[in-house]
Amino acid sequence: MAVDLLLGLQWGDEGKGKIVDVLTTKYNIIARFQGGPNAGHTLEFDGIKHVLRTIPSGIFRKDSMNVIGNGVVIDPVVFVQELEGLDKFNLDYKSKLIISRKAHVILPTHRLLDAASETSKGKAKIGSTLKGIGPTYMDKTGRNGIRIGDLELDNWKDKYRALANKHEGMIAFYDVKVQYNLAEMEAEFFAAVERLKELQFIDSEEYLNQALKDGKSILAEGAQGSLLDIDFGTYPFVTSSNTTASGACTGLGVPPNKIGEVFGIFKAYTTRVGSGPFPTELFDQVGEDMARIGHEFGAVTGRARRCGWLDLVALRYACQVNGVTQLSMMKGDVLSGFTSLKVCTAYHYKGKEIKHFPFNIEAENVTPIYTEFKGWKADLTKMTEASQFPKELNDYIDFLEKELELPITIVSVGPDRTQTINR
Ligand code: IMP
Repeated sequence: MAVDLLLGLQWGDEGKGKIVDVLTTKYNIIARFQGGPNAGHTLEFDGIKHVLRTIPSGIFRKDSMNVIGNGVVIDPVVFVQELEGLDKFNLDYKSKLIISRKAHVILPTHRLLDAASETSKGKAKIGSTLKGIGPTYMDKTGRNGIRIGDLELDNWKDKYRALANKHEGMIAFYDVKVQYNLAEMEAEFFAAVERLKELQFIDSEEYLNQALKDGKSILAEGAQGSLLDIDFGTYPFVTSSNTTASGACTGLGVPPNKIGEVFGIFKAYTTRVGSGPFPTELFDQVGEDMARIGHEFGAVTGRARRCGWLDLVALRYACQVNGVTQLSMMKGDVLSGFTSLKVCTAYHYKGKEIKHFPFNIEAENVTPIYTEFKGWKADLTKMTEASQFPKELNDYIDFLEKELELPITIVSVGPDRTQTINR
């Protein structure tokens, strides 16, 4: 049996949660391998809309097991809020959700450090979700972190205290105003840790490899997007984990030769939340219309997302780095009604036309080169099969498949589970 991967190919918010939810019936295990509560995976079904943060999107399916892998960072406080949000669904999460002992813990002071670091950057700020992601991964690679397995040890609070004290020194060093009451934050944190400890902590790499031997199928659910990858994204405007395919191997402990399908998820246009370069960004009415029609507001922070045309230079790069085998195009319905559509196929870069994603993609370095398409008027949201698609949408999809040399096997035409069309 293989591990299939599901990855966002742009700057996050592609709609991964929806496709994981649609695919989960095919898998025994759904596993998260990186990121943390900076993610917001939105699922809609039976008239319910729910946003998951750290918990895998298989939690709503009766028969799937959900694993939070070693590559994830967990904030007990947010996690417990997430569990409480699930209470109304009456799910048996104590038996359906397991957590790697090697996952790292986000401390209250990591959140404070995130805020201090962002404030100190002024205009150059990353636009972080301020969930403490960067500082927690810094402590992980700096070999100072606290892991979920440490919480089972009697003296974990000693280690906590030493690290929190160090963080307070660092916050002071930043010399910016960050107001906080650590005693209050700690009381909430310690209480949340006790609740978290009611769940099962496991050696998840052992569990997953044994599951593969037993013939179980696994879907690894990525968070954020390829262009936010710490190595391959638009550094430094990125998150602090490997969001690309290799992150699934290191974040779950599954070997590369066990990877099967790689599902790449992209929006029919492009969005980005937070700072950083975005070559096809629109600053006009068309961009505003996209944001309004597509409800482009962050699931975690509520921030307005920046919108622009589809960028095939960036998408081709993401497909290559991830070894994508098939694509899902999301939010096709949002493009209905635009008179014409544009797709960026190359960049003007230092006097040349290039098709690869260069080191610098700031506006002063690259100018997008577009191919224009006729738009379509038809409302896609009620369509149930690809044969109902208007010709202009088929032309758009055919062009993308040819440029990307990959099949688009799923087209999403609305937020609900049922608004998903296989091709
Ligand atoms: P951080 O990971 O919270 O530090 O944020 C770093 C950058 O990644 C910021 O630009 C965030 O807006 C962006 N980011 C983090 N998580 C997500 C996500 O789930 N969707 C979209 N953007 C994200």
